[in-house]
Amino acid sequence: MKINNRLKTIGDLVPLSSYPLDIGCDHALLSIYLVKEKGLSKAIASDNKSGPLKKAKENVNFYKVSDKVKLIEAEGLDSYTEGIDTITISGMGGLNINKILDDNRKKLKNINTLILSPNNYSIAVKRKLIKLGYYIDDEVLVKEKNIIYQVLVFKKGKKYYSYKKLFLGPVLMTKKDALIKEYYQGLLNTKESLLKTLPKSFKSKIRLTKKEIKYLMLILEELDK
Ligand SMILES: C[S@@+](CC[C@H](N)C(=O)[O-])C[C@H]1O[C@@H](n2cnc3c(N)ncnc32)[C@H](O)[C@@H]1O
Repeated sequence: MKINNRLKTIGDLVPLSSYPLDIGCDHALLSIYLVKEKGLSKAIASDNKSGPLKKAKENVNFYKVSDKVKLIEAEGLDSYTEGIDTITISGMGGLNINKILDDNRKKLKNINTLILSPNNYSIAVKRKLIKLGYYIDDEVLVKEKNIIYQVLVFKKGKKYYSYKKLFLGPVLMTKKDALIKEYYQGLLNTKESLLKTLPKSFKSKIRLTKKEIKYLMLILEELDK
């Protein structure tokens, strides 16, 4: 089936024996990919708007997986169903993801894995998930139409992270490849531009940005070795 690289990357991180719920499914292609190409026996795809779900229904019928992919119209985690152990949320802002999870945190009780790909505020998402009792198990980058997306995998459990680790990514900073280098270089450019525009009175923000620039320069040096 046709699926973009970003969704395929997310799908390939979903445990094969899991019962996943995709919140904000839009077209439902991720859930369809999971049952059709990865052999999962069932999946749930949910969205809070009827327009996307209409398209999802057409796709589910087109790929002949209506017996395996259940579609639910619901707000955030209201689509949680008994037996679900994995949640995916992608293509949304990080603060929206945090709100969806925080508003209904009791429903996370049996969720062992969350695979989240926020469009922004990834540090805020990491902090929220740590507060909710998860640790960062993996961090993967994927480039689609010239944009680098982060895919974060969280598992139940506790770990402590320094700000440096949260900022660089505790798992990402241990990996080495051209895309990671491009990601850190892009972040360095953004932080350097930001530093030039910050008013002198923003003392703590200036201090933090300088620290972040130092972390990025050091890791880029490491990646060059
Ligand atoms: C940009 S699409 C991303 C679709 C897909 N997850 C992807 O990564 O390609 C975001 C979808 O999330 C849905 N959405 C946004 N907030 C939501 C919420 N609180 N609960 C359920 N669905 C939501 C929107 O209706 C939209 O269909």
